[in-house]
Amino acid sequence: MPQPLILIVDDDSPHRSMLRTVLRGWGYAVEEAEDGAAAVEQVKARAFDAVLTDVRMARLDGIAALREIREWNPSIPVLIMTAWSSVQNAVDALRLGAYDYLTKPLELDELKLALERALDHTRLARESQEPGRAQSEASSLLLGRSEAMRELVEMVETVAPTEATVLVSGESGTGKELVARAIQAASTRRDKPFVTINCAALAENLLESELFGHEKGAFTGADRRREGRFVQAHGGTLFLDEIGEMPLSLQAKLLRVLQQGEVQRVGCDETIKVDVRVIAATNRVLADEVAAGRFREDLFYRLNVIGLEVPPLRARREDIPLLASTFLERHAAANRKTIKGFTPQAMDAMLRYGWPGNVRELENAVERAVILSGGEYVAERALPLAVQNAPVPDADGEELALGSMSLEDVERKAIEATLRETEDNKSEAARRLGITRATLHSKLKKYGLD
Ligand SMILES: Nc1ncnc2c1ncn2[C@@H]1O[C@H](COP(=O)(O)OP(=O)(O)OP(=O)(O)O)[C@@H](O)[C@H]1O
Ligand SMILES: [Mg+2]
Repeated sequence: MPQPLILIVDDDSPHRSMLRTVLRGWGYAVEEAEDGAAAVEQVKARAFDAVLTDVRMARLDGIAALREIREWNPSIPVLIMTAWSSVQNAVDALRLGAYDYLTKPLELDELKLALERALDHTRLARESQEPGRAQSEASSLLLGRSEAMRELVEMVETVAPTEATVLVSGESGTGKELVARAIQAASTRRDKPFVTINCAALAENLLESELFGHEKGAFTGADRRREGRFVQAHGGTLFLDEIGEMPLSLQAKLLRVLQQGEVQRVGCDETIKVDVRVIAATNRVLADEVAAGRFREDLFYRLNVIGLEVPPLRARREDIPLLASTFLERHAAANRKTIKGFTPQAMDAMLRYGWPGNVRELENAVERAVILSGGEYVAERALPLAVQNAPVPDADGEELALGSMSLEDVERKAIEATLRETEDNKSEAARRLGITRATLHSKLKKYGLD
């Protein structure tokens, strides 16, 4: 990037000129806007590398401006400046896609770091759009160097530029939505809307009107006409999350929309042409749902033109260090902490643990550990108990990290772990351990676990 161009948005003119002086001193080119509305106009007119905006302003506040800027060009990082008293604002802003937030009064060192990070982000985003790019859009979103992840990224890159409907399946928290976003980001629709709807979260008729819209007066409470998500996603991508939960009657309507490329609002005969790419996700095995008569076979084939399977984290443990370190950096920055990494014991525990909640569980565990940690390295005791107590792996011929444990210790740990896994179901635990219930009881007694 030759000389980065930054837009400062602030209605307080002395504060604005202070920022201008500081940023120019750091070698940046600077433009100014005195409110959100002016900022949005400027963003549409010039290619900014980053935007630094105040929150409270007369004409169009910073949050509203953020939303419009993101709609116009989601790849410009927007940094929000906010008073400590309105940290809730900052959280809202991050949810809306703000790149970062700074609390006022500004610490210049922090500002400098935040800007540098944001500009790095812009540079990476630009490079990834250039031919012969160092890193692809998909691989910068979907972290992981395991064979399974590399294959997935390759598939994402292959299908992204096509218009094919994609069905993403995988356990909860594996990254299905992220895969969908990566497909959108690597497609020609990247600057168009990415609209999501969770089919499990709404009752049938609400889901129908959310998807297809409704006419005023179509049902009690429909006091005005509303466009549905299909229309909102026009030109872009619609992500149908938890598609396996969609009621059968709606499945029929969805199939018709996909075949004909047009939707009808509830309570209206008029049809609206839509150009929408559909990506669906499920944590069920949809083919089984078809076999059980809970999912339409024709819709399944229509959605599953390309099927992508996101493997569970325990099947790609070599991704754990990279993911954990990335989450550590992210949450340390968000919590204003300087943490260099994990202790070897903490990393070992994370590598041993089974992560039934997959990447989401890992991210939550790391966030929690960052909050609890005082030192330079995250220690094992900052991790959730389940992770600390992760049983030594014994399945699939994985190496046993038993160290100097006695045979009794190993047995006790195996019993504890199995009881945890079965949520204290003794018969099931005994079955899994390959012993009788009576033997289990006597061992529980022996180890004082009863
Ligand atoms: N490969 C990855 N690299 C970086 N972050 C990831 C990766 N996979 C998942 N994540 C992160 O983990 C979290 C969970 O991912 P996501 O929401 O996509 O999962 P999901 O499969 O849709 O989960 P659910 O089934 O619960 O809806 C998100 O914060 C996401 O950014
Ligand atoms: Mg999801």
